[in-house]
Amino acid sequence: MRKPFVAANWKMNLLAAQLPDYFQVLRSELTAQANVWQQVDVAFAAPYLLLPTAHQCCGGDFLVTAQNVHQEPSGAYTGEIAIGMLKEAGVMSSLVGHSERRQYFSETDEIVAAKTKACLQAGMLPIVCIGETRHERESRATQDVLAKQLKAVLPVVSVEQKIVFAYEPVWAIGTGLTATDEQAQEAHAFIRGVVQDELGKEFASSLRILYGGSAKPENFSGLLAQADIDGGLVGGASLKPKDFAAMILQAAQGAL
Ligand code: PGA
Repeated sequence: MRKPFVAANWKMNLLAAQLPDYFQVLRSELTAQANVWQQVDVAFAAPYLLLPTAHQCCGGDFLVTAQNVHQEPSGAYTGEIAIGMLKEAGVMSSLVGHSERRQYFSETDEIVAAKTKACLQAGMLPIVCIGETRHERESRATQDVLAKQLKAVLPVVSVEQKIVFAYEPVWAIGTGLTATDEQAQEAHAFIRGVVQDELGKEFASSLRILYGGSAKPENFSGLLAQADIDGGLVGGASLKPKDFAAMILQAAQGAL
């Protein structure tokens, strides 16, 4: 059975000074269930400057992840952050190819593949985001888009490496619109099938695929109940520690 994985994506929100309170509330909500740490992997994708404080607040209980990395190890890339710098700060994971990076910072499938490769080579866990726009869904191109995004990345992955995918329909991100349980399951099953074709059944059946896009306590357990949905990448709702804790507990409940 795949262990649920619930990741917060804080995007460009919060201040380091707010994190001690955030984690105090979160932890006090989580003590409602014993051993929640063993049942769910929990991660926080924090803005770069918040990473050291987030790392401190998480202790060994939660994973801290960056929201982006640069694909080159060092060099003349003003304003960018290298993987080695993240590792020095104790950060061993990063989101890669979030749709906001693709949309606002022109990240192509090729760049996403290069970043994924750099993470894997450095022993960092990449959480690679894929998903279709509203127009693509309406023109019935969802599976073509997902296949194209996956096929760019999968050649850089080998079966002994660890990677997580997040299916994030762009039309559901920050819009309050969520994919239905059935739409999400259909996409997740498709993704797992493509991965299986490229990397084999064993790898595909142990791969965790997270759902992202207006996930919140009210809709999360229905999504988690789907066979191919292994957790969530949570934006807006993760800014409220009580809501995010409720979602972690739902994932823990489902894992029992
Ligand atoms: P949302 O964001 O939960 O606010 O829709 C999810 C994401 O962008 O990862």
